[in-house]
Amino acid sequence: MRSVVLTGISRGLGAALFAELAGRGDRIYGIGRRFTDEQLALAAAKPNRIRLHEAELANPATLPSADALREFLIGESVLIHNAGVVEPVAPIGQLPESALRTTVGVNLTAPMLLTNAFVAARPPSEAARVLFISSGAAHRVLEGWSVYSATKRGAEMFFDALAVEHPDMYIANVNPGVMDTGMQAALRGAEFPDRDRFIGLHERGELPAPAEVARQIIDEHVDRPITGE
Ligand SMILES: NC(=O)c1ccc[n+]([C@@H]2O[C@H](COP(=O)([O-])OP(=O)(O)OC[C@H]3O[C@@H](n4cnc5c(N)ncnc54)[C@H](OP(=O)(O)O)[C@@H]3O)[C@@H](O)[C@H]2O)c1
Repeated sequence: MRSVVLTGISRGLGAALFAELAGRGDRIYGIGRRFTDEQLALAAAKPNRIRLHEAELANPATLPSADALREFLIGESVLIHNAGVVEPVAPIGQLPESALRTTVGVNLTAPMLLTNAFVAARPPSEAARVLFISSGAAHRVLEGWSVYSATKRGAEMFFDALAVEHPDMYIANVNPGVMDTGMQAALRGAEFPDRDRFIGLHERGELPAPAEVARQIIDEHVDRPITGE
């Protein structure tokens, strides 16, 4: 029995992770602002297996409590921080403040708060894993991407600290690489010096489908036995 807490399941990589994990028989606690019709139907049909928690991740008051997670988590527990926002893409000095605050909330504050609740809530005698879906931008400067890069780098440090504090848990910062999702479409529509590279990836059909990336992430980080790693 495995219980997976997963954020940002309405589209992109999160929707693909949800579909793949549901197909493998996992229990899933999905967190996000909205859900697909298929996810809503599955949750209605199998309420003990699929739970959907509506949350605006930039608003900490809407996140599930440790008690809500404790009530759901049975067996091996997995937390996957997938939800992310790349905007605002703009030079420092021209960053819209409200978008900046939202992105820090979604990409950094929410993963920290949710992890804090998850670590308190997970069944202590069972295996546990935490994956943070990060980005190559956590480790290199792309002009215009300062907020995204800083939040991804900051969160990676938090999960590095978690790994030191909890050697009993499997912790990974995962760079999924570029994928054909709404986030890439947003980047093609933004203004920044390196934009043509992203337009080229799309035009040449070089963006993998999120379903393919989801399968790789689950094979490598969720299905692989923890012992012997
Ligand atoms: N796409 C890429 O090329 C790429 C490359 C490297 C890393 N990544 C990372 O991969 C992860 C998934 O990205 P993606 O490409 O699948 O992005 P996406 O298509 O833009 O989907 C983002 C997901 O996050 C949710 N989300 C955003 N803001 C939210 C908020 N305030 N509250 C609740 N949910 C919110 C969205 O829900 P709504 O439908 O409600 O907006 C959606 O489900 C992200 O962490 C991203 O940084 C992506």
